[in-house]
Amino acid sequence: MDARLDGKVALVTGASRGIGLATAREMAGSGADGVVITSRRSDNLDHALAELESAGVDMTRIHAVAARADVDEDADRAVGETIERFGSCDILVNNAGTNPAPGPLMDVDMGAVDKTWAVNQRAPLVWCQAAYRHWMRDHGGAIVNVASVGGIRPAPVLGAYNISKAALIHMTNQLAFELAPNVRVNAVAPGVVKTKLSEMLWTSDEAGAASIHPLRRLGEPEDVARAIVYLCSESGSWLTGVVLPVDGGVIGAAGTLG
Ligand SMILES: NC(=O)c1ccc[n+]([C@@H]2O[C@H](COP(=O)([O-])OP(=O)(O)OC[C@H]3O[C@@H](n4cnc5c(N)ncnc54)[C@H](OP(=O)(O)O)[C@@H]3O)[C@@H](O)[C@H]2O)c1
Repeated sequence: MDARLDGKVALVTGASRGIGLATAREMAGSGADGVVITSRRSDNLDHALAELESAGVDMTRIHAVAARADVDEDADRAVGETIERFGSCDILVNNAGTNPAPGPLMDVDMGAVDKTWAVNQRAPLVWCQAAYRHWMRDHGGAIVNVASVGGIRPAPVLGAYNISKAALIHMTNQLAFELAPNVRVNAVAPGVVKTKLSEMLWTSDEAGAASIHPLRRLGEPEDVARAIVYLCSESGSWLTGVVLPVDGGVIGAAGTLG
């Protein structure tokens, strides 16, 4: 199926590397008129811009905005810059995420929990509000939240993170209900994908980490990026409130996260 984004403008949070950067690259390759990438650090964004350029992306369709996902004013500013630069904000991908609070819930540091929930759970709502108020309420749109298989099933060491992703999934369903029929709201739930965020899950034993996935390999950022593009495209135009596992079969074919 050809998932195209011609005529659409997208805003992707946490896009200086990993799944967010791959999503920006796939979106540009799928014909998006404009893709705005955001992250906290402009040096990381500069590096991302260089990567996109060397991958042959048409850089007139890319714009970078340094913005913290967990700062409300940054959401308004990034959406505003997206509309100013490319004329619309049709797609929002809430991808920025963090996991500073690993370990059993009974021992977890509550400051780290606050940070986890601020970035993974509260921030996506704020960015949805910004995109909706500034563009999607009047013109429609598509939102994809990047959740996790851990938001569907419990798993060792990731309790606080998993709770935040479970809340993100519920928010996806709630918003899909509230914003239909103008705005579609979906989520992807990745398994273990080879990025910086997940390093602690796979660098010491990649074969072991791969073995919990029925398809017997870890995910690449592009695996998730392609699913996001599909959900945002016309090919996915009858989908809303969907939580799509992109996980090598962990949810649908396995039965355990370890
Ligand atoms: N990798 C996996 O196995 C996996 C599995 C399930 C779900 N996910 C989810 O996938 C999403 C992307 O993660 P990833 O694996 O691609 O991780 P990653 O490679 O570490 O990328 C995280 C991105 O988020 C940015 N970021 C972090 N905190 C931010 C904040 N407060 N405000 C704005 N940007 C922020 C980082 O850039 P700066 O440092 O420049 O800010 C970076 O661009 C996350 O929501 C994660 O929870 C990942």
